[in-house]
Amino acid sequence: MKLVIQGGNALRGSVKISGAKNAALVLIAASAIARGEVILDNVPRIADVEHQLEIVQALGGRVEWQEQGRLLLSWPDQLDVALPYHLAKKLRASNLFLGALAARVGQARMPLPGGCDIGFRPMDLHLKGLNAMGFDVELEHGFINVKAREPRGGRIYLDFPSVGATENIMMAAVGVPGTTIVENAAKEPEIVDLASFLVGAGATISGAGTDLIKIEGHPAASRGVGNSGETTRFSVIPDRIEAGTYMIFAAAAGVEVTIENVISRHLQPVIAKLNDVGLEVAVGEDSLVVKRSGPLRATDIKTLPYPGFPTDLQSPMMALLCLAQGTGVISENVFDNRFRVADELKRMGAQIRVKGHLAVIEGPVRLLGAQVKATDLRAGAALIVAALAGEGETEICQAELIERGYEKVAEKLCALGASIKYVD
Ligand code: UD1
Repeated sequence: MKLVIQGGNALRGSVKISGAKNAALVLIAASAIARGEVILDNVPRIADVEHQLEIVQALGGRVEWQEQGRLLLSWPDQLDVALPYHLAKKLRASNLFLGALAARVGQARMPLPGGCDIGFRPMDLHLKGLNAMGFDVELEHGFINVKAREPRGGRIYLDFPSVGATENIMMAAVGVPGTTIVENAAKEPEIVDLASFLVGAGATISGAGTDLIKIEGHPAASRGVGNSGETTRFSVIPDRIEAGTYMIFAAAAGVEVTIENVISRHLQPVIAKLNDVGLEVAVGEDSLVVKRSGPLRATDIKTLPYPGFPTDLQSPMMALLCLAQGTGVISENVFDNRFRVADELKRMGAQIRVKGHLAVIEGPVRLLGAQVKATDLRAGAALIVAALAGEGETEICQAELIERGYEKVAEKLCALGASIKYVD
């Protein structure tokens, strides 16, 4: 699938941000821990969510989309513990069923996960955590087998505040007796959302959003928390990465754009950097107004775990820096191999040098429409930034990767005045 964009249209108006992909993906897995039904609101209808739901169904769970963005999930007493290879390889977040199944059933079997091709993404921290809680972990023929041996609370220090490892450990810890403490835990808003959901379902968790999280496991929780007759209702937080992406679209091609359904404190590192490049951002209660009044200025960016600048917005920022006056330096500190979009941007006229985890961007350059390829989800978003600001027509191949994480992106951008359409 291709996205075809005619550059040069000024964006103005309002856009509503969807629920957070990364929160929805973990909550869908975590629903297995609740004994009763789960109703999630503000769930984005994107390809990654649909893939995660296929896994729920393959494991025996029931999935029902109700009204717009509302998802009902329920799990039987007996569920399957083996994730099918063909589904798990579609997205890395399939690995989040490991912690959920460990809590609910005491065992799980899954292939080493797939997902965006953005460097080496090992699972050592997830497995170290499960091991510290008394789970046997074996790797055999590309599969991970986890089985409760003597499950009990443990104390786990993460060498790096991995989002997925923190989430898997939190979920598994709900189902083992005793106290589990995670040190150097990830502090992302999606972790706080997971903790709030689990607490709402009957778990005892404190410290989420700080680097020390404490989980009191319930000995009786090996078959889930809460009561089977109870429904856990929860609304997913707005997607801070989608919001940040639309702020960058507005910076590249906007006059004045209102971004609705946001939690502005989740966007502080992004707002600070967009101020640096010369954008005015007015913060409302649950909206932001982004205004570009003059030329853009270069800035330096270091990606870091939250509350640092998010790695997921690094590629769109790279495209934006091509339009800014001066030399910008990006230092990518979360993933390796996340600069592949630079070569695609160069096809449009960008001047970017990449060395190791550093990229140097010279601007401003005249970006010209070209045929380019989305190498991953966020690279796809970066190419849209360049195409909106570029001259002439840009054709983005592999646009289905963009659909993994951005709900109705073409529709939302059209409503803002862009010329963008899908072509098979
Ligand atoms: C999550 C997000 C992703 C985001 C990333 C970092 C989801 C579904 N995805 O991915 O959008 O870009 O956080 O904010 O929530 N690592 C290890 N060992 C491990 C686990 C991770 O070395 O056991 C390394 C990874 O290789 C990577 C870094 O830690 O270099 C960050 O990974 P992690 O925070 O785990 O990212 P994900 O949870 O996969």
